[in-house]
Amino acid sequence: MINPSINSKQSNPPVALVTGCGRRLGLFIAKQLLQQGYRVLGHYRSRSAELEQLERDGAELFQADFTQPAQINALSEWVNERCSMLSLLLHNASAFAETASTAKEMATQFTEFYHVHMLAPALLTEQLKALLVKADNPSIVAITDIYIHHPNPALATYCATKAGLDNLCQSYARSLAPQIRVNTIEPGPIMFLDSHDDEYKQRILAKTPLAQEGGFEPIWQALAMLIANRYMTGSRIQVDGGRSVAEL
Ligand SMILES: NC(=O)c1ccc[n+]([C@@H]2O[C@H](COP(=O)([O-])OP(=O)(O)OC[C@H]3O[C@@H](n4cnc5c(N)ncnc54)[C@H](OP(=O)(O)O)[C@@H]3O)[C@@H](O)[C@H]2O)c1
Repeated sequence: MINPSINSKQSNPPVALVTGCGRRLGLFIAKQLLQQGYRVLGHYRSRSAELEQLERDGAELFQADFTQPAQINALSEWVNERCSMLSLLLHNASAFAETASTAKEMATQFTEFYHVHMLAPALLTEQLKALLVKADNPSIVAITDIYIHHPNPALATYCATKAGLDNLCQSYARSLAPQIRVNTIEPGPIMFLDSHDDEYKQRILAKTPLAQEGGFEPIWQALAMLIANRYMTGSRIQVDGGRSVAEL
């Protein structure tokens, strides 16, 4: 396992901001970063019991709903007040739902997904890049999805706005070089939702060459590599059990 953590010359622990750390992947990664010696600034929207424990483990937490730009700005201000440099900005927060069925609902859904997947990452990047450039080997990583390359009508709004995030990251990989590296991770079926029934799970796994749910560890392994590897920017890593080479 590549150790993404600590440059022995660094006197203070590296600082990471993880968005959407209240559950599932964001929570898992926040815990991994704490174990590696990072100072973790965690963003969440809904308070959860897991967050109480994360706070006891040392994470510093800030609540923000990304559909409200003022709350995104408040998160950036909070980070700027708390630290003098930032090593990792992880755009993990995500909205997920099937494509809205009426034009009115679609307008609402587009606004929400655009705010969470595109505007929040863009504002956070703009407002935190001055902190990132002060760190050793700083990077930004966004969690996108293999579906950005294989649009799915049932998830059209999700796919389109995640593809927008991907495109934004490609621009930032150019404009923030050589000081800040920007990469993306494209998960496949890493963890089903509680709402997915067995029939759905079996159908997806039958179309996944490695034929199993990935879990969060493989995403952490990819993230650790991206953090450590100083010659990667503008890269997209698919962590999907081979699903994107099979028929979607
Ligand atoms: N799970 C998979 O198999 C899979 C597959 C492909 C890609 N991905 C990507 O991997 C990442 C993590 O997946 P996951 O399954 O752990 O995601 P998740 O369970 O849906 O969690 C998403 C996080 O984003 C936060 N969030 C949602 N709307 C928000 C808003 N308006 N403002 C601020 N925060 C908001 C949620 O907060 P609340 O707790 O308050 O809702 C939650 O912490 C996501 O980017 C996802 O798109 C996952």
